[in-house]
Amino acid sequence: MTEELFEKAVEAAKNSYSKYSRFRVGAALLTADGTVYTGCNIENSSYSLTVCAERTAVFKAVSEGKREFTAIAVAGSSGDDFSVPCTPCGACLQVLSEFCGDDFTVILSDGAHKFSEFLPKRFTEENMA
Ligand code: THU
Repeated sequence: MTEELFEKAVEAAKNSYSKYSRFRVGAALLTADGTVYTGCNIENSSYSLTVCAERTAVFKAVSEGKREFTAIAVAGSSGDDFSVPCTPCGACLQVLSEFCGDDFTVILSDGAHKFSEFLPKRFTEENMA
């Protein structure tokens, strides 16, 4: 599953719209029912409006009624070699955090990681109690 999902992320990176950074990112999000939603980064001439690959995948899935996720694979590269790990940014981790537990798996080029490795003390609705 790990390698298969990572390959889907690499494939998704091919649709990346990244004319400013030239850094292509792809994500493949696995839902609890076994569906995979992919996403890529989509940049904008107004740079801050750029959306990362991970959030594209999450928003696609949630907008299709999916809210339970098992794993996400992320692949990023400024060329064709996706072997350097592309760690999800803080904004994407916070968005994933809304729907994923500590055991949610994050697959990078160096293998599988637990979500809690990246965001051990997350802000949740419990912080607003
Ligand atoms: N990017 C992602 O798509 N995901 C991340 O987690 C990190 C960064 C994108 C945003 C931008 O288009 C490019 O990579 C360079 O920052």
